[in-house]
Amino acid sequence: MGLRSPWTTLLIALGMLMCLVMPGASVKEHDFKKCDQSGFCKRNRAYADKATAESSRWQSPYNIQPASVSFKDGQLHAVIQKTTNAKGDTVNLPITVSFLKSGNARVTVDEERRQKQDIELRHDSKIRKERYNEADKWVLVGGLDLDKDARVSHQDETQTNVQYGKEGNLEAAIKYSPLEIDFRRDGASHIRFNDRGFLNMEHWRPKIDKEEGQEEKDGEDESTWWDETFGGNTDSKPRGPESIALDISFLGYEHVFGIPEHTGSLSLKQTRGGGDNHNEPYRMYNSDVFEYVLDSPMTLYGSIPFMQAHKKDSTVGVFWLNAAETWVDIVKSKAASNPLTLGKAEKTNTETHWISESGLLDVFVFLGPTPQDLTRTYGELTGYSAMPQEFAIGYHQCRWNYISDDDVKDVDRKMDKFKIPYDVIWLDIEYLDDRKYFTWDPHSFTDPTGMGKQLEDHSRQLVIIIDPHIKKLDGYPIYDQLSSQDLAVYDKEGKVYEGWCWPGSSNWIDCFNPKAIEWWKTLYKYDKFAGTAENTFIWNDMNEPSVFNGPETTMPKDNIHFGQWEHRDIHNINGLTFHNATFEALKTRKKGELRRPFVLTRSFYSGSQRLGAMWTGDNQATWEHLAASIPMVLNQGISGFPFAGADVGGFFGNPSKDLMARWYQAGAFYPFYRGHAHIDSRRREPYLLGEPYTGILTQALRLRYALLPSWYTAFFQANRDGSPIVRPMYWTHPSEEAGFAIDDQLFVGSTGILAKPIVEENKFSTDMWIPDDEVYYDYTTYNVVSTQKSKRVTIAAAIDQIPMLMRGGHVFARRDIPRRSALAMKYDDYTLVVSVSKDGVAAGELYTDDGDTFEHEKGQYIYRKFSLTEDSMSSVDAEGRNAKSVKAGAWLKAQNRVHVDKIIVVGATEAWNKKEVEIDSEGKTWAVQVDYHAAAKGQAAYAVVGRVGAKIGSDWSIKLA
Ligand code: NOJ
Repeated sequence: MGLRSPWTTLLIALGMLMCLVMPGASVKEHDFKKCDQSGFCKRNRAYADKATAESSRWQSPYNIQPASVSFKDGQLHAVIQKTTNAKGDTVNLPITVSFLKSGNARVTVDEERRQKQDIELRHDSKIRKERYNEADKWVLVGGLDLDKDARVSHQDETQTNVQYGKEGNLEAAIKYSPLEIDFRRDGASHIRFNDRGFLNMEHWRPKIDKEEGQEEKDGEDESTWWDETFGGNTDSKPRGPESIALDISFLGYEHVFGIPEHTGSLSLKQTRGGGDNHNEPYRMYNSDVFEYVLDSPMTLYGSIPFMQAHKKDSTVGVFWLNAAETWVDIVKSKAASNPLTLGKAEKTNTETHWISESGLLDVFVFLGPTPQDLTRTYGELTGYSAMPQEFAIGYHQCRWNYISDDDVKDVDRKMDKFKIPYDVIWLDIEYLDDRKYFTWDPHSFTDPTGMGKQLEDHSRQLVIIIDPHIKKLDGYPIYDQLSSQDLAVYDKEGKVYEGWCWPGSSNWIDCFNPKAIEWWKTLYKYDKFAGTAENTFIWNDMNEPSVFNGPETTMPKDNIHFGQWEHRDIHNINGLTFHNATFEALKTRKKGELRRPFVLTRSFYSGSQRLGAMWTGDNQATWEHLAASIPMVLNQGISGFPFAGADVGGFFGNPSKDLMARWYQAGAFYPFYRGHAHIDSRRREPYLLGEPYTGILTQALRLRYALLPSWYTAFFQANRDGSPIVRPMYWTHPSEEAGFAIDDQLFVGSTGILAKPIVEENKFSTDMWIPDDEVYYDYTTYNVVSTQKSKRVTIAAAIDQIPMLMRGGHVFARRDIPRRSALAMKYDDYTLVVSVSKDGVAAGELYTDDGDTFEHEKGQYIYRKFSLTEDSMSSVDAEGRNAKSVKAGAWLKAQNRVHVDKIIVVGATEAWNKKEVEIDSEGKTWAVQVDYHAAAKGQAAYAVVGRVGAKIGSDWSIKLA
């Protein structure tokens, strides 16, 4: 507590306690900064306002020095001179524009003086003098190969144009005076930097004490340059102002998506007021926002500064790689239409303004043209989402808290008794002895090993929570080691930082320090962490980090991390570094054991997708929060971190039974499917609801479990190329304008399953938007519900029904025998569902592997492509691999016992109207019965073929003609 008196400490502690015991308290918006309370945001908005007001008179003071421009091996180097005052003084800002093989471009701007450490720090600070330049080290994993074929296509004393991209159809026009970069595809401008002249890089300057009232006289408002106070905390800002800001225009684009985590529509709103618009910029400053508000640009727990702009048949985007507090303003303007194209509708431009507190200006530019190009090449840079532990895509049963090991065992038994499938039971902070991580409460968790064993016997897992704050208590070995090995975060005075969190007074592990990661790894070894076993996995919470008595419930920005970087510089990747340490620790629990970790994180940044799953934090048991979860989960998907879900049932409060039913149905479509509840909420395990609700929840869970093979395949696709696991309409149908703003329905992977969970009370039917002219069948009745695009079809949705359609033309896999867990289904046979297109064809895929190790990276997987043509149905290796090219390990060998059991052909043509079909596989043929049902009363014709008996990993075919 440093210099605080004991009374202040007591008051803070009481305040904390009040917050914790007041279940009804909601987020106090005024506890978090608005733009005009955040000095750099306010300054940059004012700068933008000035530029806008002065319009054509406004002269951006950033100019490239023509003589400084050089181009070599796919990179342009130059120096921007910023004119800093009326006298014409300038500062140098080196700029590099890199053209990458992927077709992306990267623009990086630094500040020469800080680069050379030629600045003075205030308050005798010992921090680094440079702008933070290590974000890429944590975030980027590839995609940086330079496009050596990029070439200067035009150059004169005013600009350089570079032609780049695989097809040479991309161009960056870098204009010198004032600096402006125009990114073009096929000759047309799509993205423009500094179009509106908002580029602002606050250069270093010494603090010159002025008399009161003098600050503004010299032209610039210095009132927020230096020490800044908010909510009783003063930020000492030893480097003074150093923000960076840039306006990025998306020309002709009406929709922008991305920059999670926020609540609200997937298509981002304007932020400069008016109508239904927000009044504040979207903020990214990872925070523990207790009971967050909906439809808000307010920051939440994680940040991904990746934005996609979309218009008919074109998607482009930017990735703003900066780990400091960031704000994004969005406005849309009608571009003056070309007078020659009389009568044509005006074009809308979306103009954005990005503002970060510190660090480099480092922006990637994506020119598409498809949404798939964006998600793929963004994944190339930041990594694709990890292949999950297979159990992790089943259902997770959590609450704060299961109170004892007996309680856990009891819930586990009851789930079985009621035949409710689940894979994982979770322990929140009450399992700990006095909130000390790596311990068990000696009274209520006396036999964690026995508890884990029962779960293991039932093919289930345990997840326990471990947070980054370490209780400050002499004699607690973890604390003693943290202190003696000097692995904690420091305060601005160079003392170990002390704050309040669950355990009371705590220190925070600094996972930017490689030694801290090494130490963290030692703590998870099975023989060190008694009570854990192979089926124990981890939940990382509070890693924004949450500090109850810190400014905006987090660490002071002038805290100091490993490498002498200020917390200000790295705040938004702090959560990722902790998640990463735990991920690494789980990989090394036992020598020779190489299994995929499962770690859930609350805080995240670009790149976190490589490490595990996320959830959307402390939502509420209300219909509005249920509705809000769908666009949030979709947004995670298009932003490269698709393993996402919201607390099913709602964290705070007590959901009605109808709300529970609808939430379990919606949750069946979250990639991460976990029920969770606050400590003060009533117990709500699915079996407690009573019929018909227990049955309804079980049905939703079974639907999820039956479709696990398809979910796993969707996870594989995400891992391969960044495809979202659940997909919004603009991503699957980028030409259909009517679907761009739709964010309440989704496709599951490439299955063609289109679902629209009901998220409103007393709503028993819904309209679904149909994106194309394909045939759509109802998932359960096989009724043909649509054959025409853009038609809103009304789908019945009684409380036990989920509006769910199958798009014609797909094949997806299911496992139809209900079992207790995903692991228990591992060797079950498959059902293939074929939804026949209007043209009588279909195709689909199945990916499967051991769901546990990294053996798949050595070819130990099965990846099939199924096709239905007019005259045959077949399964072949999706990559054309020869079955003998891989030496089968244990899992692959065991797949010889796994078969295709049934094929259900929905929309079956006359070719299926027969008693039996012949299967041909591995040189043998055999007959299989067909049960054909002719079309009747709106229901499509369908055929059930079975038992097929072909091995899932083998080629097989059925001749129809
Ligand atoms: C905050 C998390 O968001 C919540 O899910 C958890 O139950 C509590 N911390 C207690 O650990």
